[in-house]
Amino acid sequence: MQHLSNAKKKKKKSTAKRKVVEASSKSSSKFSPFQTKLGAIAYDSGYRQLFRLLGYPGCEKEAEELVTILAPERDEDGKRILSSLLDVSCGPGIVTKSIVESKRFAKVVALDYFESMCERARETLERDCDNCNYEVLQGDVSALQFADATFEKVSSTAGMHCWPSPVKGMKEIKRVVKPSDKNDRNDWSVLFSTVVLPNRGDKTKETYSWETNKPFLDREAVLDIVRESGFDEYEVVREDRAYILVKARYFR
Ligand SMILES: C[S@@+](CC[C@H](N)C(=O)[O-])C[C@H]1O[C@@H](n2cnc3c(N)ncnc32)[C@H](O)[C@@H]1O
Repeated sequence: MQHLSNAKKKKKKSTAKRKVVEASSKSSSKFSPFQTKLGAIAYDSGYRQLFRLLGYPGCEKEAEELVTILAPERDEDGKRILSSLLDVSCGPGIVTKSIVESKRFAKVVALDYFESMCERARETLERDCDNCNYEVLQGDVSALQFADATFEKVSSTAGMHCWPSPVKGMKEIKRVVKPSDKNDRNDWSVLFSTVVLPNRGDKTKETYSWETNKPFLDREAVLDIVRESGFDEYEVVREDRAYILVKARYFR
């Protein structure tokens, strides 16, 4: 044990690193306030607004920026309508509804792990989105029920830190989204926001252990996940206190 070969040391190191983001992959089986209808209602009628304190711009603004990045207007064709968007971890649908209302995607599929959140999202969308093409489905980001390259774009707001395995989740997102056009520098297929530790204090990569529903250590911890999931390019779009917004894409 004292004299590990270099290869063994390397292997040990990479396993240890992976454990940082997959520390509690069984967390989905633990009780979560998101799984009750009351939790879903409390989330959209107050709790989500508190995200402003973390640096989140607010649901409408977040949806606006998301649409601008994933479906940018072009001089030659003005407002393009893209075929489809999957909104992963839609929660009660308060960001999703503004995405749907933008009518920039011919079809929006909203997905959440908890049926309580899906139910609430259906109510929100039925109430606020007339004549829109959307569907709300229960599903797990770690094992998405869609065929490869089903969606033109995938979004997820404030979701990743709640997933049991962010790397598995991002790999699944990459699998179900179409590749981007390398020659179009505005063609980004994935956009997501999540929560990072607003004040690191004395915490370092070595001493901080991430688990579900806990902020990531910092932007590098989040970008490690994107890299490990196989995306070719990524960029931090915005950062403010605990808020980070990242776009990512891969090529054929
Ligand atoms: C903080 S909420 C974000 C909701 C919404 N997108 C927003 O911006 O307010 C995180 C959501 O992630 C969902 N979630 C947790 N684990 C998941 C999983 N394995 N697959 C998909 N969604 C999951 C939760 O049910 C919850 O609705």
